[in-house]
Amino acid sequence: MKILITGGCGFIGSEVVRVALAHGHEVINLDLLTYAGNPDNVADVADDPRYSFIKGDIADPAIAATAVEGCEVVINLAAESHVDRSLHDPAAFIRTDVVGTATLIMASRAAGVRRFVQVSTDEVYGSIPTGAFTETDPLQPSSPYSASKAGGDLQALAIHHTFGYDIVITRGSNTYGPRQYPEKLIPLFITNALDGLPLPVYGDGQQIRDWIHVRDHAEGIWHAMEHGAAGAVYNVGGGNEWPNLEITGRILAHTGASHDLITYVADRPGHDRRYALDTARLRGLGWAPQVAFDEGLASTVEWYRGRRDWWEPIKSGEYADWYATNYAGRR
Ligand code: NAD
Ligand code: DAU
Repeated sequence: MKILITGGCGFIGSEVVRVALAHGHEVINLDLLTYAGNPDNVADVADDPRYSFIKGDIADPAIAATAVEGCEVVINLAAESHVDRSLHDPAAFIRTDVVGTATLIMASRAAGVRRFVQVSTDEVYGSIPTGAFTETDPLQPSSPYSASKAGGDLQALAIHHTFGYDIVITRGSNTYGPRQYPEKLIPLFITNALDGLPLPVYGDGQQIRDWIHVRDHAEGIWHAMEHGAAGAVYNVGGGNEWPNLEITGRILAHTGASHDLITYVADRPGHDRRYALDTARLRGLGWAPQVAFDEGLASTVEWYRGRRDWWEPIKSGEYADWYATNYAGRR
């Protein structure tokens, strides 16, 4: 079948592109190539005759209408995805994550696309001190990023409710692996450790995240697309809960860098303390994560060690300017 994957030049989207091609499908990748979009992330499939690329914005109705034409399924991963950036520019997040999502869903429905998959996040549930969120728990987002993702989810559920349109939502946990933009905890700390630079731990470093390897997350999205029920939400979590300081220590061990690099900095405003997902619903459909955390982390460190050509240009360009502007005084 012909599938539109949006955000396919990003971290998780590029992995979903590979999964779709491996399953034998035709893939169109619609990506605006923001700071986070990198054509190198799909360089390995760019010459595949079943793969094509459109540079464009999911929030542009004309582009959305063109991109969905003739597709059986749309998987939407295009998003503004970084919490820290959302603290400085919430409107950019609302535009892509809410307006873009609704625009793409309406274009898909108008074009007769059979199923729309909205890729969302565990952050829409907010923070949870103990236990784990199920799909029926209320949405209590606490950052401009998670509020924009919750807005996208609510648009999707409302359009399903109003028109009976076939939409499935996945809510993934913190994802790690190759090709993740080095603004997020794991790739930032790996690349800093490899260069002997400080690892800026926010607050006390005891915040807990549930980590999932990008391959397992992509397979989870694919599984929900193939087997999920219309209008249903599926949590996609790795079941690897660790405090940030523990992750930091493991990165130092894998890179051989000194513990002296750990630098405590001011906490992220509004910082969620803990995320945790109950994944029984998707597991009930036959999905389960496959990558053991320590093996996944070790191979991720090796990927960054071998791909300085991928991350050094990123860390010396727009990225450096952004940090200089927005983090002055915080670190
Ligand atoms: P990313 O930031 O690496 O990539 C986002 C991609 O979307 C980029 O290629 C960018 O160019 C593209 N994009 C942004 N705005 C666009 C627009 N208006 N039109 C078209 N393309 C646009 O993000 P990621 O980490 O791969 O996340 C992908 C999805 O998964 C997001 O929806 C995110 O909310 C969700 N998610 C991410 C994680 C995580 O830990 N990274 C966990 C759970 C859910
Ligand atoms: O939970 C899923 C979400 O995970 C996704 O929806 C988001 O797209 C993704 O960015 C991620 O959000 P987090 O805010 O959890 O990820 P981040 O890598 O930014 O931070 C992980 C934890 O590490 C968090 O507690 C903040 C902390 N941190 C992060 C950075 C970048 C630090 O201590 N220092 C840092 O420099």
